[in-house]
Amino acid sequence: MVFLTIGGAAWGGNRLVPSQSVLFLSARFHSVAHMKTPSLLIGPTLRYRENPMLHPVTDAVWIDTAGGVLMAEGTIAAVGTADTLRAAHPDARVTQYGADHLIAPGFVDAHVHYPQTAIIASWGKRLIDWLNDYTFPEETRLEDPAYAAKIAARYLDLTLAHGTTTVASYCTIHPHSADALFDAAAKRGQRIVAGKTCMDRNAPDGLADTVQSAYDDSKALIDRWHGKGRASYAITPRFSPTSTREQLSALGALWSAHPTCLMQTHLSEQTDEIAWVASLYPEARDYLDTYETHGLLGARGVFGHAIHLEPREVDRIAESGAALVHCPTSNTFIGSGLFDMAGLVARNISVGLATDTGGGSSFSMLRTMAAAYEIGQLRGTPLHAAQLMWLATAGSARSLHLDDKIGSLAEDLEADVSVLNLSSTPAIAQRFENANDIWEALFATLMMGDDRAIADVWVAGARRV
Ligand code: GUN
Ligand code: ZN
Repeated sequence: MVFLTIGGAAWGGNRLVPSQSVLFLSARFHSVAHMKTPSLLIGPTLRYRENPMLHPVTDAVWIDTAGGVLMAEGTIAAVGTADTLRAAHPDARVTQYGADHLIAPGFVDAHVHYPQTAIIASWGKRLIDWLNDYTFPEETRLEDPAYAAKIAARYLDLTLAHGTTTVASYCTIHPHSADALFDAAAKRGQRIVAGKTCMDRNAPDGLADTVQSAYDDSKALIDRWHGKGRASYAITPRFSPTSTREQLSALGALWSAHPTCLMQTHLSEQTDEIAWVASLYPEARDYLDTYETHGLLGARGVFGHAIHLEPREVDRIAESGAALVHCPTSNTFIGSGLFDMAGLVARNISVGLATDTGGGSSFSMLRTMAAAYEIGQLRGTPLHAAQLMWLATAGSARSLHLDDKIGSLAEDLEADVSVLNLSSTPAIAQRFENANDIWEALFATLMMGDDRAIADVWVAGARRV
């Protein structure tokens, strides 16, 4: 059985991965109910004035070393100095963090595949083989609704423990896989973006839908979830090679009927993939054109990877207002290439940051920031700690059109907060001690930190980790 083929040659086979041993996570969840008593977090606080990708970094972003965040009824009621907030809210329940902590917005991971949780860190393949040999067999297992629910819960527990409060996830072709993630996020009070993945060709038996079922199932999920609580729907054609023109057109029509939905897909990740797209769509001007001509390019479009872009593609992305998502651990792990952050940001294109679990090799947005830094170094444009944090929070939120709700510590936004411990291991602690300023101190955690650096996570004002 051939799943994906390039130029007629078979790449991959119908092998199932051995069943995964169940990873048992003890979720350190506290009460889900919103607190009636306001909650006041005191400690160094990360604040944004402007986009630090476009403005001088330390003007745009600053750390108030004696700051505070007041949370009430699931939202941020006030951000300011510790003294002022304490005086104005004497009844608030206070949580005090030390000088080696940072109160930051919860991380926003703008492109993930939760169904790939159990096959993260699979060895030695490039994109098409990796999909055939690891990804599709695992995604097939989510035909079992109980397994989908188990993986959705496991994924959200793992990512919350890494300080990630919102993800935009692909699901599998099975509609219940989207229900499972929306349900699991609602139970945890999390804001979530997700969509059923659509593919009606070049997919194995059991992992293909049709033009009609992709349209109908996606529409039913939109009706069920979009705008309900903290959920929003992303129409999700996997990528051009796994959809027929007819399916892309049907999803384009669905998007124009539901314009407040996002549309997420993959674009120009590997050169072999681009050549394959050219052979499948000989009429297309380039890879982006396969989406554009089927109604799948627009301001609420979110394109993952976008590494090997043609000048026309960059022009059209900039004109349309669509967002790109940088997936640096994935781009190195699968061997895809070096995203041109500086060049694309200079075109005023909105860029988010993402793990791309499980093509990416980590659930951690700290590890993802480290990889983004390293790729910047390889391109001669290293990113500042403030830019990395902005990308992992406000930048990703903006790419998902959620920056009026999450991604910053600002009044009236939803109270999703991750508190970093900047001396979480002996190696990081000694670097913290030796830092000349707060940015150096933070940078050590961005480069070397993991889930041990996540001191607390607050979701809609409730402590969850
Ligand atoms: N392109 C199409 N599907 C996928 C996927 O699941 N992961 C990555 N990294 N690229 C893709
Ligand atoms: Zn992806």
